[in-house]
Amino acid sequence: MPRVNADQITEVALTLNGREVCALAEPRMLLSDFLRHALGATGTHVGCEHGVCGACTVLMDGRAVRSCLILAHQAEGASVITIEGMCTDEGGLGIIQRAFAKHFALQCGFCTPGIVMSLADYLTGTDEVCEADIRQVVSGHLCRCTGYAPIIEAALAAAREIQAIKRESDGGRDAG
Ligand code: FES
Ligand code: FES
Repeated sequence: MPRVNADQITEVALTLNGREVCALAEPRMLLSDFLRHALGATGTHVGCEHGVCGACTVLMDGRAVRSCLILAHQAEGASVITIEGMCTDEGGLGIIQRAFAKHFALQCGFCTPGIVMSLADYLTGTDEVCEADIRQVVSGHLCRCTGYAPIIEAALAAAREIQAIKRESDGGRDAG
């Protein structure tokens, strides 16, 4: 392992789930390790650590990214949302999480936070949601337990709910 001098360990400041945070990071520290070990956001899971499994997916400035492929210092000033940030304002499960629970879309749950984050990017950022695209999104994640069918069902259910909310708020805007 290359030696790291104390003066190379510097602060990284970012917004995590809406809260400004700051902690020390070595130059080559991965964002996934920074989130888990420096900031305590252990809902972000680490599997392969080379961008294949998708377990470490988080939202960075609104887009789903693999946090094991990003250095902590590259996230300086960014807005990062992890699975901990997906709950409702009251602290309950968010729409996608509730759909996963209802449709039994997880077993061990190791892959689940990453899938939820990728779906959050796709479902909230797309007006024309379709099953083919959902399958494409989910195909970027390795799950060893569920067989994927319940995950697709949950994603479709969440998509319907999110689209209904969008329609309602668009209608409200039109009416206003
Ligand atoms: Fe990042 Fe597998 S741990 S993609
Ligand atoms: Fe176990 Fe996906 S639920 S790996």
